[in-house]
Formats: sequence, structure tokens, C-alpha cells
Amino acid sequence: MKKLSEHVASQLQEFNVTLPVDEATMPPATWYTDTDFLKAELDLVFRNTWQPIMRRDQINGVNTYKSGTVGKIPWVVTRGPDHKLRAFYNICRHKGREVVCKDGTSKSGELVCGYHGWSFGIDGQLKSAPQIGGIKNFKKENTGLVPMAICEWGHWIFVNGDVDATPISEDLSDLNKQLINRNWERLQYHSHKYWTINCNWKAYIDNYLDGGYHIPHMHPTLDAQLKMDSYQTDCFPKYSIQTSGGASARIGAGSIYAWIYPNFMINLYGNCLDINYVIPINEDQCQVYYEFYFHDLDGEEQKSLIGKSIKQADITQVEDIEICESVQKGLQSGAYIAGRYAPGLEKGEHHFHLLLCKDLSNSK
Ligand code: FES
Ligand SMILES: [Fe+2]
Repeated sequence: MKKLSEHVASQLQEFNVTLPVDEATMPPATWYTDTDFLKAELDLVFRNTWQPIMRRDQINGVNTYKSGTVGKIPWVVTRGPDHKLRAFYNICRHKGREVVCKDGTSKSGELVCGYHGWSFGIDGQLKSAPQIGGIKNFKKENTGLVPMAICEWGHWIFVNGDVDATPISEDLSDLNKQLINRNWERLQYHSHKYWTINCNWKAYIDNYLDGGYHIPHMHPTLDAQLKMDSYQTDCFPKYSIQTSGGASARIGAGSIYAWIYPNFMINLYGNCLDINYVIPINEDQCQVYYEFYFHDLDGEEQKSLIGKSIKQADITQVEDIEICESVQKGLQSGAYIAGRYAPGLEKGEHHFHLLLCKDLSNSK
């Protein structure tokens, strides 16, 4: 297990995990501004948690593969002739190049590294390594691609560097029930977009988890669509759910805002679903990936509703970006003194800070 640096360990100690939300003080600014803190999060949190990497409908054919990176981790997912999905670190066992750099289908059923031609089966086993004649003490069977855990849940495929991780569906069983009651698996993918935000990834999550505290102040059009007096937050071991009654056709009977530790958010309201998936770029910059889903994609009336719904999501997102970038300035000023939580509202945020702190501290 990796050890935390003294520097990061002392920043963790500034946050007292034993205090309940009504007595606790928020984490210090350095959690949001320090490069070493982010390095620890990438190594110890992002590597060992379920990360949604693509939709299930994006890898269908036999011998197809797709690759990408989460934080610092290059991954490749394959679908074998047995239709089984497998995930590996996309790191060649020779010299560490990414084995595949593009997505595709392999006619030979092999992934061939473009650097020196080592080839790996779709199951990760090393098949051949050109010109290594004379090599001693080399075991081909121990030189396959290093596996990652993989699982499917909802519309997505997730990977996790911790091969012993509990499947995400087990972690989320209560949330799953609520989503199934709202027919979420029948929703259809419509579109996606990326936003780059000049704030630490946690500033974005904190804003999402403040129990609707900022909504009346920062989102006047969204505020008018929700019944804020019904807003509530429920915390579970690895996720939290914020719910609100609806006061508009777009929100319908109400909305569910689910956050899954550490960085995946699912928003279900009316006939729409959108997700926000936030990943760090630097300690003061992150990228948020949005996907939109609707029950029905066809018909002029529906297309117009979709257009309006995405426009409203964009308005809310732009308002949130303004908040998060401004908060980041305050955190970076060197003059921020850690604040207090509004106990009745910000318990989801406190829950996030506890989970993160405990996760990082357990690695000591
Ligand atoms: S790094 Fe892949 S074959 Fe050399
Ligand atoms: Fe917001």
C-alpha cells in the first residue's frame, strides 16, 4: 500500500473526522490548492474507486476495444469472442507505452503495441514479443496486461484499479431501487458535452452537495421549478441522494440528485436524466462531462422540450461554473479560514469530506 507524504497527512489532520456536522469545520484551503494533495487523491482515491468510462452501448462487437484515461490511469476495455468485457491498464509490459492509442476492432483478436510490436490477446495474455531471443528468466505467462475490475450498472461501464472491489451495483442497491421505480433504464441517450472549469474538482462536488443551499441565491430559474421546502439529503455509505419536489413540467413529480463517491452525479427529473462526471486536470482545474437522456427522442414537440431542457441545464451549469471559479479564487488567496457547515443543509458535503479523508487516511 502506498504511503501518504507527511505533508498530505498533516493537511488531513486539520479536518477533524470525529466531529458531527454541527460541530465540524470544513477542510482547509490546501485540500483544494496543493499539488501533492491532488497526487494523493489520484493515487489513492481515483485509482481505487469505480469510474464510469463509457456507455454500455459503446462497445458491442466481438474483438472490439476502447481506451482512455481516468486521472493518470490509461485503461483499455475489450469485448472478447466470448462477449465478455475485460479491462486492463493500457500499459505495455515492455516499456510502458499505451498498447492501443485508438479505438477499434482487432481482426486477429490481438492488441499490438505500436512501439516494438509486442502483442496481447483480447484476454490480456502476452501472445508474442518480437526479437527477444536470448532473454533469460522471462515468463510469458506472467507478462500479460495488468487487469482492472470492470462492471456494468445503469447505462454505463465502470472500471476500478482495485480488482477486489465490491461491484458498484452492490454498493448502490438502495439508489438502484429508487431509479428503477422511475424507469431510468428505459431512458435514451441524446447527447453529451464537456466543460472545463478553473476550480479544484472538489469545489464542483461541494457545490453539488450543499443541499440546495445556493439554489435560491444563484439559480433563480431553477429555484422556480423546485419545491425547495421539500428538499432533503440522505447519506449512504458510498453515495448520497438529494431529492426535491417539482413545481414545473420539466421537473415533473420531483428530482433525484444522486452523488456517487467520489465524482459521479446522476440527476433524474421529469422525463430527463443527465449525468455530471468530474475529473481533475490540475489542483485548480477540472473537466466536467455531461450526458443527456430522455424518455422519448422523436417528434417535433419532444425535440423542442429536449432543446429547452438542455438550455436550462446549460444556464444552471454556467451559474455553477461562476460560483466554483470564484470559490477557487478565495481558496487560493491564502486568506481563507476554513468555514462551518449549515448543519440542516450541507450534510452531504460533510459526508463527502469524511469519506475522502477516511479513504486517504487509511492509506497511511
Ligand atoms: S513498449 Fe510496447 S512493444 Fe515496446
Ligand atoms: Fe448549482
